[in-house]
Amino acid sequence: MMNICIVGAGYVGLTTAAALAEFGHDVLCVDIEQSKIDMLNQGLIPIYEPGLEELIRKNVQNGNLHFSFDVKEGIKNNQIIQIAVGTPPKKDGSSDLGYIHNVIEVVHSTIQDYKIVITKSTVPPGTNEWIHQRFLDEGIDEKLFDIVSNPEFLREGIALWDIFHPNKIVFGTRTKRPIKVLKKLYQSGRAPVIFTSLTGAEMIKYASNAFLATKISFANETARICDAYNVEYSDVALGLGTDPRIGRDFLKAGLGFGGSCLPKDLRSLMYSAQRKNVDTRLLDAVLEINNTQVELYLKKLNTHLPDFKGKRITVWGVTFKPNTDDLRFSPAIALISELVNKGANVHTYDPIVQLQLPAICSHANQNESITNSDALIIATEWEQFLNSNWAEVKSRMSGSIILDARNCLDAETIRKNGLIYLGVGRR
Ligand code: UGA
Repeated sequence: MMNICIVGAGYVGLTTAAALAEFGHDVLCVDIEQSKIDMLNQGLIPIYEPGLEELIRKNVQNGNLHFSFDVKEGIKNNQIIQIAVGTPPKKDGSSDLGYIHNVIEVVHSTIQDYKIVITKSTVPPGTNEWIHQRFLDEGIDEKLFDIVSNPEFLREGIALWDIFHPNKIVFGTRTKRPIKVLKKLYQSGRAPVIFTSLTGAEMIKYASNAFLATKISFANETARICDAYNVEYSDVALGLGTDPRIGRDFLKAGLGFGGSCLPKDLRSLMYSAQRKNVDTRLLDAVLEINNTQVELYLKKLNTHLPDFKGKRITVWGVTFKPNTDDLRFSPAIALISELVNKGANVHTYDPIVQLQLPAICSHANQNESITNSDALIIATEWEQFLNSNWAEVKSRMSGSIILDARNCLDAETIRKNGLIYLGVGRR
């Protein structure tokens, strides 16, 4: 059992804190936002992540997990510090490391005995080496600290599954000294534990997300070609994915990738590469394909609805993917903004989020959201949409167009109900 202080009560910090407490460690999670900590101390969590609230409550009750907004005390009193603060994107694509810097300054100002400082936040290559150098520049003896890069690979919506069933655990270190302690931190099960350099670990994280993004853009470009030849893309994806060298995951075509990680990390990696004069033409294309997916689907809709002006269009699903309340870089939001710009009268429904945007009407009821609509767009593949009553949908709508922007519906069922099914790479 170890005493651990996790800095940052966001989605990564909270999931990691809950899991480490469940593994039996004594975990203190700190955050500068007092309102967040107050909420957590009342047993409520500030984000939507299935199962997390229950796990946090359980570990608070059994005494393994605590919350505090006294960041300084938390850092001072624990030997292992895990940094899980945000690294949001700047306009030029680089990552804003302001929160990381703040945490490091607190460690400098309070350090008295040996500490292991573990960066979980996604940071550009070279950041952890820079952190190490900052300690030395502050005159802190190398015997007093070890810096570790320990990127996380959780997916929002299934973060608990991912943390309890990791496919790998990555630690970047400068020396062998912290390895014994790190091996006892997580329960890796059968997952390989990969030790590398600080920058090597940072690159594993960026390369992983860049590769996943590449797979998705590859899927989307392939679906475009399938569309031109009237080929069912999902058959092609199945055929592709059964080759173990390719794998089935991340081949779903649709509106494209969004969220707080894939778009941000891709741009940050491109920025880091370009600073070293490395050509990133593959990643440029990955981003370019993603940036044109909304336009592609709107063109598809145009084939049946030539002018959006004054048309009532309903969008189901506004989050960047199902089972999350996260709207950051959601392709659905980009789609909604384009529809509004083109003069459509936009109505939305989402199982979790009541969208607050000017010029749109957000509904709390799925069926009511489609009343008198000319077209319905599925922008996020929430499971409840797949089981919709299509006869009722047909009777409520004034038009009959269903644009499946996530390739998640059964086209035949839609057509049997007298509706027009549109997708990209669907027959
Ligand atoms: C992603 C990675 O999958 C995690 O491994 C990583 O830890 C995380 O970023 C992070 O860096 O923190 P996440 O952003 O939660 O996780 O979501 P994903 O499941 O990767 O989905 C990202 C986007 O890609 C979503 O918009 C999703 O709809 C889209 N997607 C995903 C597709 O369009 N097609 C697919 O086949 C898969």
